[in-house]
Amino acid sequence: MTKTAIYPGSFDPITNGHLSIIRRGLEIFDNIVVAVAINSDKKPLFTTEERLEMIAEVVSPYPNVSVDSFTGLLVEYVVSQGSNVILRGLRALSDYEYEFQMALMNRRLSRDVQSVFMMTDYKWFYISSTIIKEAAQHGGSVGALVPEVVEKRLKQKFAKK
Ligand code: COA
Repeated sequence: MTKTAIYPGSFDPITNGHLSIIRRGLEIFDNIVVAVAINSDKKPLFTTEERLEMIAEVVSPYPNVSVDSFTGLLVEYVVSQGSNVILRGLRALSDYEYEFQMALMNRRLSRDVQSVFMMTDYKWFYISSTIIKEAAQHGGSVGALVPEVVEKRLKQKFAKK
C-alpha cells in the first residue's frame, strides 16, 4: 500500500524551509501532495497560480511530489486525496501552540486523519515567508533562503510595485 501525505500551507512563497520538509518527508512517505490553501482572508503577495507554478518548478526533480490547491476544510481535502496524513513542519517553539491547536481541531473534525510533525532543519528555523518578503521588498538578498525561481519572482514582483 502506498502512503500519501498532504503538506498544506500558504506557500507565499515556498522557501528552502518548506523544501527541506518535502525532501525529508519523502523519506517517510511514498507520495507528497503540496497543497496550497486558498484563504480569502489572507492577502497573499503571489496569486494562487503563481504559487502553484513556483512550487511545481521547485519540486520537478521529485516525481513523487505533486502540487494542488484547495478551499474549505483541510481534513476533507486530505480524505478526497485518498490520504489520512497531514504533514507539517515545526520551527521555533512559537509554532507549537498554533500547530497544536490546529492538529486538535483537525482531529476533532476527523478521527481518521493524523497530523505528523517534522522538525524544520536548524538552518531554516527562524525564516518565514513574511520575513523573506520583507527583506526582498527592501532589496535585501534572499538567495540563500529560497529556491532560485522564487528569488527571481520576488525581484520581478517588487520591481513592478
Ligand atoms: N520552513 C520555513 N518556514 C516555514 C516552514 C518551514 N518548514 N513551515 C512553515 N513556515 C512558515 C510559512 O512560510 C508561513 O510564514 P508566514 O506566516 O510568514 O506566511 C508560516 O510558517 C505558517 O505558514 P503555513 O505553513 O503556510 O501555514 P498557514 O498557517 O499559512 O496555513 C493551513 C495553515 C493552510 C494548514 C490551515 O490554515 C488550514 O488547514 N486551512 C484550511 C481550513 C481548515 O481546515 N481549517 C481548520 C483547521 S484548524
